[in-house]
Amino acid sequence: MEHETLLLIKPNITAQNKVGEILAIVEKNGFIIDHLKMCIMTDDTAAKFYAEHRGKSFYNRLLAFMKSGKTVAAVLHRDDAVKKLRELVGNTDYKKARMGTIRRLYGETVTRNAVHASDSIEHAKKEIEIIFPELKNR
Ligand code: RTP
Ligand code: MG
Repeated sequence: MEHETLLLIKPNITAQNKVGEILAIVEKNGFIIDHLKMCIMTDDTAAKFYAEHRGKSFYNRLLAFMKSGKTVAAVLHRDDAVKKLRELVGNTDYKKARMGTIRRLYGETVTRNAVHASDSIEHAKKEIEIIFPELKNR
């Protein structure tokens, strides 16, 4: 599964009815959507998903935001998927993100930055299994 990655479309985008726009961008950039779901993150899922950030200054703000509305999760594949999606998503801070990247186009604040993309093959596998437990042991 080394060509897979996880995209989360965050609650600021679902609230604006722009899920289709984001999915169109990823498809136009060569990603194939293999699995797709919409959910509202529970305390348990959010804590597991963001465990690496526990204790950081932005942790409570991030979790409150991620639980505040609907999230769309997509397992995507293409060659070099993790790296290519991170490039397409852009810098965490939308103001520093390159022109044309998803965060530059749709980010509102550092927290409300439109999307999440896995940052390594190892994390992609872990994150996919948190959001799509039915895909464990494929
Ligand atoms: P992501 O995990 O969402 O793809 O973003 P990332 O790798 O670019 O950034 P990361 O460091 O993993 O941070 C996770 C999410 O936490 C929020 N954040 N806020 N200084 C801050 O206020 C701050 N730093 C990070 C963002 O929503 C970021 O995407
Ligand atoms: Mg990250």
